[in-house]
Amino acid sequence: MPYSILGLMGSPRMGGNTDILMDALLSHAQALGAVTEKLRLYAMRFQGCIECGGCDHTGVCVLQDDLTPVYERLLQADYVVAASPMFFYNISSQMQALVERSQALWVSKYRLNGLVKRQKPGQAVFIGIGATRGKSLFDGAQRVMKYFFDALDMRFAGSLLYRGIDAKGEIKGHETAMADVKRLAEAMAKGERIEF
Ligand SMILES: Cc1cc2nc3c(=O)[nH]c(=O)nc-3n(C[C@H](O)[C@H](O)[C@H](O)COP(=O)(O)O)c2cc1C
Repeated sequence: MPYSILGLMGSPRMGGNTDILMDALLSHAQALGAVTEKLRLYAMRFQGCIECGGCDHTGVCVLQDDLTPVYERLLQADYVVAASPMFFYNISSQMQALVERSQALWVSKYRLNGLVKRQKPGQAVFIGIGATRGKSLFDGAQRVMKYFFDALDMRFAGSLLYRGIDAKGEIKGHETAMADVKRLAEAMAKGERIEF
């Protein structure tokens, strides 16, 4: 059975830095036999959690939109890679909306004894890209992703973080980024435990 990778592309800029890294990762993994899927979050129509309580007794979100079929894929993927540019020291708003919608799975895990949950172990990786170079640039985003991946019941394997990247496509000139994602793709295609 090939291993599956679900890529969550959280930048509005198609062909931008996040998009480039995600494509490099997924195409390399696919060439090595993995089954890959890329979700361009900004090409999808959905909103964040509206706090209606509709999932309180079912663990299933009642909103019907482009995220509705995604829950199943989040639960079935062997690997989830969430990639986002830093916007005001956090993930992008569309990525944040997706994170909020995992509340239904959080409810399932912590309030409903795992009524809706993944049936096999999974690992998750965060890729963050920002223009500035501050030490704390990714702190907020990484904390959010930690709780997101916990709601998905996945092991948060770690992050690939790139500072000082701003112009569209600049990531291609980064010293290690393209090689980093290719190495990650190789490990995922083999079903390995991801370590950073
Ligand atoms: C609305 C907005 C907010 C941003 N906020 C930050 C920020 O807080 N810190 C930072 O380092 N870069 C910030 N940036 C720069 C982007 O993170 C950077 O240009 C990144 O490379 C964009 O990646 P992309 O091409 O994948 O969209 C911001 C850019 C935009 C458009």
